[in-house]
Amino acid sequence: MKTHKRLGVGFVGGGFITRFHLRSWVGVRDADVLGIVDPDEARAGEACALAKKLRIGDARPYKSLTKMIENPDIDAVWICSPNYTRLEVMEEIVHARQKGRAKLIGVACEKPLGRNVREAKAMLGLARKADLLDGYLENQVFCPDVVRGKEIVWARGARLCGRPYLARAAEEHSGPHMPWFWEGPLQGGGVLNDMMCHSVEEARFMLTPPGAERGVLTPVKITAHTACLKWQNPKYAKVLADNSGGKTDYINRPAEDFARSLVEYRDEKGSPLIVETTTSWCYVGAGVRLSMELLGPEYSLAINNLDAGLKIFFSRNVKSAAGEDMVEKQNAEAGLMPVVSSEETEYGYTAENRHMVESFLDGKRPDENFSDGLNVTELLMAAYMSAEREKTVTFPVAGLEEFIPAVAKGTWNPRKK
Ligand SMILES: NC(=O)c1ccc[n+]([C@@H]2O[C@H](COP(=O)([O-])OP(=O)(O)OC[C@H]3O[C@@H](n4cnc5c(N)ncnc54)[C@H](O)[C@@H]3O)[C@@H](O)[C@H]2O)c1
Repeated sequence: MKTHKRLGVGFVGGGFITRFHLRSWVGVRDADVLGIVDPDEARAGEACALAKKLRIGDARPYKSLTKMIENPDIDAVWICSPNYTRLEVMEEIVHARQKGRAKLIGVACEKPLGRNVREAKAMLGLARKADLLDGYLENQVFCPDVVRGKEIVWARGARLCGRPYLARAAEEHSGPHMPWFWEGPLQGGGVLNDMMCHSVEEARFMLTPPGAERGVLTPVKITAHTACLKWQNPKYAKVLADNSGGKTDYINRPAEDFARSLVEYRDEKGSPLIVETTTSWCYVGAGVRLSMELLGPEYSLAINNLDAGLKIFFSRNVKSAAGEDMVEKQNAEAGLMPVVSSEETEYGYTAENRHMVESFLDGKRPDENFSDGLNVTELLMAAYMSAEREKTVTFPVAGLEEFIPAVAKGTWNPRKK
C-alpha cells in the first residue's frame, strides 16, 4: 500500500535548463516528471524521452499548457521557458485555476522571475491570486559547496569572531547558447540580467545568518558598471548574426557582455556589509566559471567550480568533436581540462529540486521563493539604473517599478555615445 504522497510535475519548456533539471531528478525523491509542454514538438518529445530513459517519470509531451495542467496527476509546474514568456505562462496557469481546471499545489520558476520589477511583482501577485506555493529556482543557493561552506563559516568563524562582511561572486562564460538570450528586449537585458541574478542572490545568502529571514539585510546603495567588450567587435557581431539567421545585430543593438556591481547592505545591527559581483559573456576558459569568496574577521572561504578534482589531459593528436561533456559552456577538447563530474549536483539543481518537491508536498512555501526573485530583480534594475546614470543609486530607489533598462528597450549602444 502507498504510504506517502508523490508529486506529479509538469515542465514548461523542454530546452537546455529543463534537461539539466531532468538529469538532476535522479536524486529527487517522491516526485515524477509527468508532462513537458513546448511549442517545439521535437523539443518536448526529446525531453520526455530523456525523462523516461532516466526513469524519473512517464512524461508525456503537450502542445498546450492548459491541457497539461488539466491532467489531475500534475500537482506542480516548473516554468523553464524563455524570459519573455513568464507572464503569459503564469496568466494561463491562473486562468486554468480560476476555471477549476487545474488542481495545482505549487509553481517553481527559473531565474529571472521577471525582465523588470513590474513583471516580477506581477508574477508574485499572480501566484498569490491562484493560491499557489511559489518557488524561485536559484540553483546557486543550493550548491553543496555554498551550503556546506556557509554552515562551517557561520558555525566556527562567525560564532567566535564575528559575522562575515564581504561576499564576492562571479559568473562568467563565453556567451549564451540560444539567440534570444542575446536580445535585450526578449531577455530583459544582457549579462547583468542573465547572470548577475545568481551572484547577487548567492552573496546575499552567504551573508545572511543561518535560519534568519533573507530580509534581515537592508540594501543601502548600489554602484554598477556595464560594457560591451567583445561582442560589438564586427568580427564577433558577425558570429552572432550568423547564429541567428541575421536577426541579432550587435553593431546597432548590443547588450552588455560585462557587468559589475557593488552593493552595500546594513546588517541587523546596522554594520556595513559589501557584496561585489562581476559577470561576463566574454570569458574564454575551459567552460563556465562560478566563483565565490566570503571574508570575515578571522576567516575566508573560496569556491571555484573549475578547480575540479578531476582533470583530463588530451594531447594535440586527439582531435575530437566539440561538446559539453566535461563542463557547461566548454570551450576546448584538448589540453588539461577540468571536468565537473556531476554538474546537476555541484551547481545545486538536485538539492534545489528536492527542496521544492518537499516544500510542495508538505504544503510549505519554499525557502527560496518569488519574494526572493522579486528582491533579485530590484537589485538588478537598480544596478542598470546606476550603470546608465554613472552614479551610485540609493535604496529605496525612486521610479524602480517603472524602470526599463535601455538595453531592454533596444536603445543601448555604448559606441554611439
Ligand atoms: N539556473 C540557471 O543557471 C539557468 C541556466 C540556463 C537557463 N536558465 C533559465 O531557464 C529559462 C530557459 O532557458 P533555456 O536555456 O532552457 O532556453 P532554451 O531556449 O534552451 O529553451 C527554452 C525552451 O522553451 C520553449 N518555449 C518557448 N516558448 C514557450 C512557451 N510559451 N511555453 C513553453 N515552452 C516554450 C522553446 O521552444 C525552448 O525549447 C530561461 O528563463 C533562463 O534564464 C537558467
